[in-house]
Amino acid sequence: MLTPYSLLTTPYSLLTTTTYYLLLTKYSQNSKSTFMTNFKSVTAFAPASVANVGCGFDIMGFAVQGIGDAVTVSLQPDSDNSKITLTGIYGHLTPSERSKNTAGVAINAFLQAIGKSDIGLNIILEKNMPLGSGMGSSAASSAAAVYAVNYLLGSPLSVRELIPFTMEGERIACGSAHADNVAPALLGGFVLIRSYNPLDIISVTCPDDLFAAVVHPHIELNTSDSRRVLQNEVSVADAIIQSANTAGFMVALIKSDYELMKRSMSDLLAEPKRTQLIPGFDAIKAAAMEAGAIGCGIAGSGPSIFALCKGEAIANKVASVIREGFSKIGLYNEGYVSQLNSPGTCIVNSVEK
Ligand code: HSE
Repeated sequence: MLTPYSLLTTPYSLLTTTTYYLLLTKYSQNSKSTFMTNFKSVTAFAPASVANVGCGFDIMGFAVQGIGDAVTVSLQPDSDNSKITLTGIYGHLTPSERSKNTAGVAINAFLQAIGKSDIGLNIILEKNMPLGSGMGSSAASSAAAVYAVNYLLGSPLSVRELIPFTMEGERIACGSAHADNVAPALLGGFVLIRSYNPLDIISVTCPDDLFAAVVHPHIELNTSDSRRVLQNEVSVADAIIQSANTAGFMVALIKSDYELMKRSMSDLLAEPKRTQLIPGFDAIKAAAMEAGAIGCGIAGSGPSIFALCKGEAIANKVASVIREGFSKIGLYNEGYVSQLNSPGTCIVNSVEK
C-alpha cells in the first residue's frame, strides 16, 4: 500500500513555511514608503470554482463564471483590525472575526509576509456564496481579499505570489491548505497543481467550446467532513488507474479529444467515498451522461455536481437535467453554465485618493 500523504489532514504546511520565508526575505527590507497606495478603497471580485474535476483530486480546478464573492478594502489607521464587515446574502452565516474568516486569515498572512501586519484596514466581504457548497466559496473570499489588499498597496506581489496566502484561508476553513479552488479563483481558467512543495501551478488553456454545467443543491457539506470519509491509503493498482486517467484527461484537454476525456473522467480517490453524502448522485450522474455530458462528478468536496460538455447548448441541457434530478428529491438548487476559459479575480471598483 502507498501512503503518499494524509488526505485527512493538511500535507502542505512545509510549503507555506518555505514560501513565507522566501517572501519575508524578499520584502522585509522594504521601507514603509515602498508600499504606496493611490486609492482610498478598492473592490475585487473572485469567481466560484470547481476543484478535482473528476480524476484530479486536490490537483485540478477551474474558475466558474457568474457567481463569486467581492471584497472592498480601504486604509483606516484607527480600524478595529480584529473584525471584518459582512454583507451579501450569506454574510450573516460567515464569521466576522478576522482570525476566523477565510478572507481575514488570508489577508493577515499576506500582510505578515510583506512586513505590514500593523496597518489598519477596513475590510468589507460581500458573501454571495454559501459555505459548504463545493463551489469554492471560501476560496472566492480569500482570493478577492488578498487580491484587493495587494492592489491597494500598489501590487507588491504578483497574482501567482498571492496563492499561498489564499491557501492559508483554506486551512482555516477546512483544515487542509489545498490550492485547487484558490488557484483557479485567482488565475482564472483551468489549473493543474503539479506540485505542492515547491508550489508549481500550471494554467492550461481549454478548448473554447468546452463548457461546465454546475448545480448547487441547497444542502451544506463541510469540506472537513467530506475529507474525513476518504481513505488514507491507496493501492498501487488504484494509483496506476488514477494517474493514467489524470494523464489521459490532460492530454484530452490539450488535444480537444472529447472521447478520451470521457474515458478519463473517472475517479477512484474521492467520488466512491463521497457519493453517499450527496442525495441522488448516481441517478443524477447517469441522467447527465444520458443528456450528452462528456463527464460528470462531484464539484470539489460536494454537494454541488458538475458536468463537462461540448458547447453551451448541451451544457444548458445538462444543467437542466441535473437540476431536475435534485428537484425530484425535494432539493432546491441553482445552476450555472460557464466556459472553462473564464476570468479569475479582478478589480471591479476603485476610488482614487
Ligand atoms: N480538493 C478539495 C477536496 C476541494 O476535494 O476536498 C474542496 O473544494
